[in-house]
Amino acid sequence: MRLFFAIMLPPEIQHAIGRLRAELDWLPIRGNWTATPNLHITLKFLGEIQDDAVADLAAAVKTRIPAAGSVTLQTAGLELFPPHAAARVLGVGFSGEVGRLTELAASLEQLAEDYGVTREQRPYVAHATLARFRDGLQTRHHARIETLWSRFGPDRRFAVEEFQLMQSTLGSCGPEYAIAARFLL
Ligand code: 2AM
Repeated sequence: MRLFFAIMLPPEIQHAIGRLRAELDWLPIRGNWTATPNLHITLKFLGEIQDDAVADLAAAVKTRIPAAGSVTLQTAGLELFPPHAAARVLGVGFSGEVGRLTELAASLEQLAEDYGVTREQRPYVAHATLARFRDGLQTRHHARIETLWSRFGPDRRFAVEEFQLMQSTLGSCGPEYAIAARFLL
């Protein structure tokens, strides 16, 4: 099954971000938007893992990554990847205890390697993907998007108690996610 580790955002944060997405909707840009209940921060994408290895993988996470306490995060504006020309991903950035997420992502990276998953070469940047643009987002839209973010209101602070191993099933209407295992932070 297709799996990834993530922090699914609390519903109130998903809804606040989802409302922003509705405001961006009218822009003449073609993108694949993340469905509101799917908004998450990826910790590590695993890809296809054999079904019979999943229980063992979840047990390994519990043994090797002890809970260290909840993590407080805050929404912190929009991020474009790559940041300048023809961005392919528009995401929400986070501040607060993001260093804890970076450490967790590094631990999961190491663990995943033991299960045959290729190591990610890009540095880890905690974000929640709002949209992907196959043809790149034209720079003329950047300023508009930044203005709309200012209507998002004050940045929202929230505490996260757990992370999840998510199963992703790809379909014609976008991916469907289901929680395969949960782990206390
Ligand atoms: P992203 O949103 O930061 O791009 C589930 O597919 C999640 O895994 C996505 O949100 C995506 O994070 C991340 N991911 C990382 N590498 C991926 C890949 N090769 N294919 C699909 N998703 C990937």
